[in-house]
Amino acid sequence: MAKKLWGGRFSKKTDPLVEEFTKSIQYDYKLMNFDIIGSLAHIKILCKAGYLSSMESSKLENALDSLFKKIKKGFKPPVNNEDIHTYIQNELQKKVGDLALKLHTARSRNDQVVFATKLYCYAATGTLQKTANSLVSAIKGLSLKKENKDLILPGFTHLQHAQPVYLRDYLGAYISMLKRDISRLEFLSTNLNITLGAGALAGTPIMSSKYNENLKSYIMEEDLKGLIKPVTNSLDSVSDRDFVIEIIGVLSIVAMHLSRLAEDLIIWSTKEFDFVEIDEAFCTGSSLMPQKKNPDVLELIRGYAGRLYGNLISALTMMKGLPLTYNRDMQLDKEPLFNSFEIVSSELKVLAGLIKTLKFNKSKIEEYLEDEGLYATDLVYYLVDKKIPFKEAHTIIGKLVRYSIDNDIQIKELPEGLLKKFSDKFVKKEIVKLFDPLISVKSKKSIKR
Ligand code: ARG
Repeated sequence: MAKKLWGGRFSKKTDPLVEEFTKSIQYDYKLMNFDIIGSLAHIKILCKAGYLSSMESSKLENALDSLFKKIKKGFKPPVNNEDIHTYIQNELQKKVGDLALKLHTARSRNDQVVFATKLYCYAATGTLQKTANSLVSAIKGLSLKKENKDLILPGFTHLQHAQPVYLRDYLGAYISMLKRDISRLEFLSTNLNITLGAGALAGTPIMSSKYNENLKSYIMEEDLKGLIKPVTNSLDSVSDRDFVIEIIGVLSIVAMHLSRLAEDLIIWSTKEFDFVEIDEAFCTGSSLMPQKKNPDVLELIRGYAGRLYGNLISALTMMKGLPLTYNRDMQLDKEPLFNSFEIVSSELKVLAGLIKTLKFNKSKIEEYLEDEGLYATDLVYYLVDKKIPFKEAHTIIGKLVRYSIDNDIQIKELPEGLLKKFSDKFVKKEIVKLFDPLISVKSKKSIKR
């Protein structure tokens, strides 16, 4: 194991099992560029405070810049360091010698790790919003296709035929969900309250009050400047992981929404429904049954929601009852966080691809639209328009439906005389028109389109 950031008071070497057990570099290497952004600003602050000369600052900055360039090229640090902060320090020492030892003045990994994780969250939520927007566009594109634009299908409650709805409204429901998700991500990313200067827990003696002001001016990334906030409570700064829990929470909601879309498509693509055809490029086969074309992509999206919830529970439970301030337990926030982002991001991407290929089976859907049950509510409104109280109309149509089932005869086939036995308001030539999906969807006026 490479040199540690601590050890002066230890007379014994760390047991290799402990080193292996406590290290986090195998996943926190993803924080490397964000940790460097903080270090670059910290160097400037140390210089201003007189702890580094300009020459020393430039040397450190150049060394960090070269590391930064390495990661941009996809470099992955070796795992023989305790964590990413240790790795960066060790690399700096290789490049600039003992000057690197000055960088840790007034710093603690407890503080750095929150800073870097928040920057990661800012970048990752930004990217994810774009990815989610691409899925929104794919869904919009599907519903605006010439052949889908005016397509009507049975809507369901309890997975039973309910009322006809436009496909574009059905798909629009998922667009609404995703738009809420995108604004949740936006809210979280703009409220990250990024801080540095809390030290291990008690603040630092260096330029304490001005640290934040300087930090802001030394962070080069313009969009980050507004997110930098002063340390108002250093104990809270180093021990707060609300932002991790909130983000995994929002990602869990995204995963839940995607699992619902996946489930609808799974059901719709069954032989029994046959509403939609998923392109072969987005399906898988069976090693035993040659005829199979399975919606595994969608099943995994449904299944991964469980992983997301697990990550959320893992982060929440990790924080439960933790005494102030930093405890090593908190190191375990990163895997669920990174994992949640990675899963949701791949789900959004693969779904956008799959959605674009969907082909709706209009003739099959039209067969289902012949189910008279779908128009029963419209018949109720017909009677309501003729001044029959809703509850009474509901009962009349209920009895009519029952009669139709028991006698295996369609309502629109019933003679007017028989219809009038259910209600004298019935006029056959008026009600036969109501068994029409277009009339049904157009009669719903409460929707602002
Ligand atoms: N790798 C650690 C983490 O992710 C960094 C902080 C370590 N701090 C400490 N006092 N051991 O939380």
